[in-house]
Amino acid sequence: MSARAQIGVTGLAVMGRNLARNFARNGFTVAVHNRSYARTESLVAEHGDEGDFVPSESLEDFVASLERPRKVVVMVKAGAPTDAVIDELVPLLEEGDIVVDAGNAHFPDTIRREKALAAHGLHFVGTGVSGGEEGALNGPSIMPGGTAESYESLGPILEKISAHVDGVPCCTHVGPDGAGHFVKMVHNGIEYADMQLIAEAYDLLRQGLGASAAEIGDIFAEWNRGDLASFLVEITAEVLRHQDAATGQAFVDVVLDQAEQKGTGRWTVQNGLDLGVPITGIAEATFARSLSGSVPQREAAANLPGHTAGWEVKDRDAFVEDVRQALYASKVVAYSQGFDQIAAASAEYGWNIDRGAMARIWRGGCIIRAGFLNRITEAYERAEDLPLLIADEYFADAVSAGLASWRRVVAGAAQAGIPTPAFSSSLAYYDAVRAPRLPAALVQAQRDFFGAHTYRRTDRDGTFHTDWSGDRTEAEA
Ligand code: 6PG
Repeated sequence: MSARAQIGVTGLAVMGRNLARNFARNGFTVAVHNRSYARTESLVAEHGDEGDFVPSESLEDFVASLERPRKVVVMVKAGAPTDAVIDELVPLLEEGDIVVDAGNAHFPDTIRREKALAAHGLHFVGTGVSGGEEGALNGPSIMPGGTAESYESLGPILEKISAHVDGVPCCTHVGPDGAGHFVKMVHNGIEYADMQLIAEAYDLLRQGLGASAAEIGDIFAEWNRGDLASFLVEITAEVLRHQDAATGQAFVDVVLDQAEQKGTGRWTVQNGLDLGVPITGIAEATFARSLSGSVPQREAAANLPGHTAGWEVKDRDAFVEDVRQALYASKVVAYSQGFDQIAAASAEYGWNIDRGAMARIWRGGCIIRAGFLNRITEAYERAEDLPLLIADEYFADAVSAGLASWRRVVAGAAQAGIPTPAFSSSLAYYDAVRAPRLPAALVQAQRDFFGAHTYRRTDRDGTFHTDWSGDRTEAEA
């Protein structure tokens, strides 16, 4: 077996298969391997004419077919299956070789695996890949972590197969060890928020206008030509215009209203709590999925009164514009929070992540790709250490222009009894983060009252406790 493949892929389910084809179509010689050889054979039989594939039946032959330093992309299920493949691979590899985990791994696992492989002189590159099956084949957004050294030889290959926007690849070195998978996790958290916000906008339009799903689809198609232009808005228009073949009804009306998840959104929220970053939009979106699946609770609540005032939309165009503005502003909040989380993690784990570069590699290929990511990159170019994205001049102006609309929509939804958890919590976040003074002062006082948890004062330094059960004198703690 001559070592002639530039990169290898093991695990040839749809994502692995499409990534392998993408490498081959871009002129790389690709070693391919799968636990059951039939899948490897079918890949070569069906797509062998797309490029240069080197199939192997055994993992030993697969490794032997790779040029040094070897680059092995592992594309198997996250968790135990990934560990099992890594354990088999390690004894076959040599110093300087690179193992790439391109699945949706949880970043603490990636940190652990990177350490373990480094002890063997191997590079472990946890890599976020977004764009689904289609992206894997035609150009995904790629978020590799790991050492800068590994990126020198691996980076150019990944950049070549990634999506490109304005000639710029949607792939860059994110940072050491778990940084790539972390950023992919936050990408998915933002994806959850974006999807929930779109769903709330749809619900408002449907209930407020009494329009058909297809008519709302037309509104989304129109929105996709402006500031909201994005993959998710585009597919929303298509989904809403789709008719169910079996019943002739709007497709969206025959889908069970219980949203599921594989867990990346949950990880994002858990990490937000760990780091103390208020990613409220992402959390509401994640909980909205949980609530939709809370069947016994929903059944028990089905007859609870709403006492709603109803929503009488007098000016259709003005209402549609209000919802559009509310969607845009809430979306800015979700991204602002996600980028805060990346900054906090970067500081906590020593990753030195360039947030502007993250927005740049999300412009194409990935699920949250959107025109407005250019504006985010520009904001971080203006101020690398920007403490809050919504305080950047461009976004502050954009949100301010839509603020009255946003308030009308959230207030109207509350009056009409239409649940808008992500719209409402995003507006609450906006009002809280800009407030000169918060009732957190009272919370601190309560904590001191019942638990002597102490407080700080506005007028002088130090930590204090008041003797609440005694004479209420204050002492420095
Ligand atoms: C992507 C997607 C991808 C997958 C999500 C779906 O970036 O290509 O995010 O990773 O579609 O994991 O997540 P849920 O099943 O949790 O909705």
